[in-house]
Amino acid sequence: IDELLAEGVSGKRVFVRADLNVPLDGTAITDDGRIRAVLPTVKALAGAGARVVVASHLGRPKGAPDPAFSLAPAAARLGELLGAEVAFATDTVGESARAAVAGLGDGGVAVLENLRFNPGETSKDDAERGAFADELASLADLYVGDGFGAVHRKHASVYDLPARLPHAAGYLIAAEVAVLKKLTEDVRRPYVVVLGGAKVSDKLAVIDSLLGKADRLLIGGGMAYTFLKAKGHEVGISLLQEDQIPAVKEYMERAEKNGVELVLPVDVLASGEFPDLKTKAPAEYITVDADGIPADKEGLDIGPRTRELYASKIADAATVFWNGPLGVFEHPDYAGGTRATAQALVDSKAFTVVGGGDSAAAVRTLGFDENAFGHISTGGGASLEYLEGKTLPGLAALED
Ligand code: 3PG
Repeated sequence: IDELLAEGVSGKRVFVRADLNVPLDGTAITDDGRIRAVLPTVKALAGAGARVVVASHLGRPKGAPDPAFSLAPAAARLGELLGAEVAFATDTVGESARAAVAGLGDGGVAVLENLRFNPGETSKDDAERGAFADELASLADLYVGDGFGAVHRKHASVYDLPARLPHAAGYLIAAEVAVLKKLTEDVRRPYVVVLGGAKVSDKLAVIDSLLGKADRLLIGGGMAYTFLKAKGHEVGISLLQEDQIPAVKEYMERAEKNGVELVLPVDVLASGEFPDLKTKAPAEYITVDADGIPADKEGLDIGPRTRELYASKIADAATVFWNGPLGVFEHPDYAGGTRATAQALVDSKAFTVVGGGDSAAAVRTLGFDENAFGHISTGGGASLEYLEGKTLPGLAALED
């Protein structure tokens, strides 16, 4: 982007593909981290006199307008954070979008409605995606990719559009890639990875690649129960991906062979019912050893001994990457494991990276200061796929 700015962008229409996919409670944004993350790019462009056209997806609407997924709240928040008026187009490439872009003065900012209201954005068909990219291209002279959270998606605005316009990477993408490079090239050891989240299947590829790179792998969240089951423990009615057990067994064997320490919970908070996340009514649970979860109960957070164990495994690390909550952190009674893990990262002298929308939101909603971490990535799937060593369509398109 510095090169684009040096060439001069005044009066040019610059399309900024951001990731404003923020968590919403109705129309209230519960964590605006992703909006704040794109500010340096938007400010630099607007400050240089560009006419800035910001576009993003939000959620997973089905290729048609759906008010529940409108970007209007994100556009309003962007305006507040910029301290400037931000125009909002009620469509993405239609009359409203064309009028909003045409109405921009130098240094002005407009936000288009959700890219995914258009079937062409996510289409698997190259021609359909290309046709939508052509429409987007007609709204701009230059392209800046800065939606790091979406660079792993081969979508029209991420992959096809940069091929149609002179393009550059924005400050957020540049910063994210610089950090993730540190984890893939010449990482400082001990390198400890903490993986949580609900599903093992989402994390299989990254576990596979980390078995050759990390020194220690700490497992928590819903996916821990598939590991415990694979070890031969009963897990009651805990979240379980039975079909993943053979893969998990193979990983446990490979970890041992490669000298990677694979650490599983030793105790968990277990309950007969899933907590009410709306009312947050006090939950009833017991603390049990991880090999003794009663048949009628499910594990919902790592227990106190596990929290201590994991903190001790993080304490002497030189690098820590953490993705995925360790329990149902949205309920206060099951937030302790995630909070203890975040605290362990804060207390360690390691270079710490928090990856993923959920973990980043957890850290902020639990009240941690984001500056206490080395880096909080705005990308969940994107950062995991980067660590796996995959080619990310949105980065490849910018390097081209
Ligand atoms: C994310 O939240 O990880 C990104 O915004 C991508 O969203 P997606 O998984 O719906 O493509």
